[in-house]
Formats: sequence, structure tokens, C-alpha cells
Amino acid sequence: MEFEPFALEQLLSDWEQTVDFNFAESGVYPVLLRELLEMAGEGVEPMLDTLLNYPEVNGDLALRERIAALYGDAKPENVLVTIGASEANYLLVNTLLEPGDELAVMRPTYMQVEGAARNRGAVIRSFNLDETRGWALDTESLTVAVTEKTKMIAVVNPNNPSGKILTEAEMNAIVQAADAVGAWLIADEVYAGTERERNDQTPSFQGRYDKVIAVNGLSKAYGLPGLRLGWVVAPETVTTALWRRHEFTTISASMLGNRLGEVALRPKVRDQLIQRTRRLIRDGFATLEKMLASHRDVFSVVPPMASALSFVRYDLPIGSTDLVHRLRSEKSVLMVPGDCFGLDQHLRISSALQEGYLREGLGRMNDLVSNILAGR
Ligand SMILES: Cc1ncc(COP(=O)(O)O)c(C=O)c1O
Repeated sequence: MEFEPFALEQLLSDWEQTVDFNFAESGVYPVLLRELLEMAGEGVEPMLDTLLNYPEVNGDLALRERIAALYGDAKPENVLVTIGASEANYLLVNTLLEPGDELAVMRPTYMQVEGAARNRGAVIRSFNLDETRGWALDTESLTVAVTEKTKMIAVVNPNNPSGKILTEAEMNAIVQAADAVGAWLIADEVYAGTERERNDQTPSFQGRYDKVIAVNGLSKAYGLPGLRLGWVVAPETVTTALWRRHEFTTISASMLGNRLGEVALRPKVRDQLIQRTRRLIRDGFATLEKMLASHRDVFSVVPPMASALSFVRYDLPIGSTDLVHRLRSEKSVLMVPGDCFGLDQHLRISSALQEGYLREGLGRMNDLVSNILAGR
């Protein structure tokens, strides 16, 4: 079996540091350490007394208590703190799936669980969100994708790349599908808190079924990707099994990540971070919409219900990977091709960024579109 790289992350690793305009990231404009500490009403001083030791390997208790408090009946023992949600997802696949097991995955999606599972030798089946119905869950495809052999169902909610938030009925349909065959339900909820059109937070799958595993972290809704802090909330047997793998992969997250993560999740600070994120997302999408309107016949988008992302359909005679590389090489602008999600003729565009940056970078995209339309 040949190793399959993670195409989206490789694109970011290769190019994001060298382009003038990066719209390929999936978070909001990040928070300064100073801002975070000011939100907490603390200066830098107390942080300077942090002993740069290893933290508790499964995550400092104070942080695990903050995380557990975000979920109905979870306890600190249900929580494992990881290096980003990425480590959480990777550990889950490599702990709960054996070669030959079936995974049913929602598409389009952030392809980490699917790619890691394929590398593990799992059999992948998929079910769909339907763009023509505002990314509604296609329940028929769910029925086909989940079989007696399904060991795991994986969803990202709110969704990357479409920004879709599942309705209660759609969540119930997924839970029932998992329950019917006793499958693990992995819910990557890193975009909960990034709601664009409403102020109530997207509910978690956690607690809706005894085999739900919730994944989350500080990179998206909190604007703190540089802390590299994520977590899993799972039944204790699973948390312990993951912890044993975590000792092999990274030992622990960093001490500063644990300390600052606890600060970020204090209710007063958390509220401010989420408000900041939503402001950036709402303003950024409004600007993106205006910029896309320069080429109304080319671009169309289902407005994202959440996230900093828009999955924009375009009508041009060029495939998405080629288009992204023309944008990069001719305009120094980076976006993610729909090909990374198995849906060509789309661009994933991140827009929760500073207004001037957005206008200038998206202006360059519009210039390239004009050139393509003119046959250049
Ligand atoms: C759905 C989803 N899960 C996980 C990750 C990884 O995030 P982290 O920075 O927490 O490792 C991303 C990053 O884009 C994502 O979009």
C-alpha cells in the first residue's frame, strides 16, 4: 500500500509562507499574546513565572476541567489534550481502526480522517452534503455508506469547506446511523463558535450516543492556532487508549499551550475570543461577497452558516488545481482547489482577515479571472 500524502496541508506547507496573499488558511486573523492576556485582565508578568517543564502528559488538570465544563456531563478523565485537533484525529484513526475496517465519511470535508484512515488500510465509504440544496445532508447516501461493517463515522460540523451547520434532524440521522451498527461517531467540531448568521453556538454531538467522540481545539473559533492546542472528549476507556498512543507521538502538548489554553477557556475570555472571531467572519464574508460580485457570471457561493471559509463555485474553462497554481505563480495569491475535497470547479477561500488585505488579494484574483475570460 502506497502512502498517501495530505494534499491540502502539503499545499499550505509548500506555499503559504512565500505568497503575498494567503487565503488558503482556515482560521481567522490570529490573536496577539498581548491581546489574550489583556482579555484575561492579566499582564504578562504572571506568565513569566511559568516553569517550562513538561505539563501533565494528558493535559493539565486545570485545562481539562475547563474543557470538560464545555460538555454536558464530561469529566476531566474524559479529556485528552493533544497538539491541535490534528493529533486528536490522527490518534483516533490509529487507535480505533484496523486495516480492512470501514469508515463512513461525510463529504466534502477536511480530508484528514479520511486520508489517515486510507493510510491505515481502512475501506472508505462516503456520504454527501448536497450543494444544490444549500449543503443539506443527503440522507440516502448516508444509508448506503453505513453498513454492518462500519466501524467509524466521521463528520466535521460546522463543516470545512462549506460552512454548513447540520440541523437537529440531520444530527439525529447521523447518530441513528451510527447507533444502528454500533459505530464510533467522530465529530470534529473545531468550527463550533464560528457561527456567521446566528449567535448561539453549534451544539456538540457529545452526549447524544455512548460512542460519540468529540474533537476540538483552539485554532479556529478562538483564533489561537499557534498554541497548537486541541483535545478529545471520549468515554474514559477511549481517552486512556489514546493517551497510550500520545506517549509515543508527542508525549504532551506544550506547557505554554496548557497554561494559555486554560486562560483562553475562562468564560469571560472565551466569550471575548468568540465575539472577535464572529466579527471577523461576518465582516470578512461581506467583503468577499462584494469582491465576487465583480464576476457575477463566474462565481456563485452558498453563504457559509459558519467558519471563515467559503466554498466558491466558478465557471471557467480551467480545473481548480491549475487555477490555484496560476493564481499563485502569476498573482502571488494562495487558495485551496476544490480538487483537495474531490469537488473540482470550486475554490476554498478564507476571508476572516483584515479588510485591506482581503480587498487587495481578492482584487488580484479578479484580475486573473478577467485575463482567463479574455483568453489570456
Ligand atoms: C476540520 C478541521 N479539523 C482539524 C484541523 C486541524 O486543526 P489544528 O490546528 O487544531 O490541528 C483543521 C485545520 O484546518 C480543520 O479544518
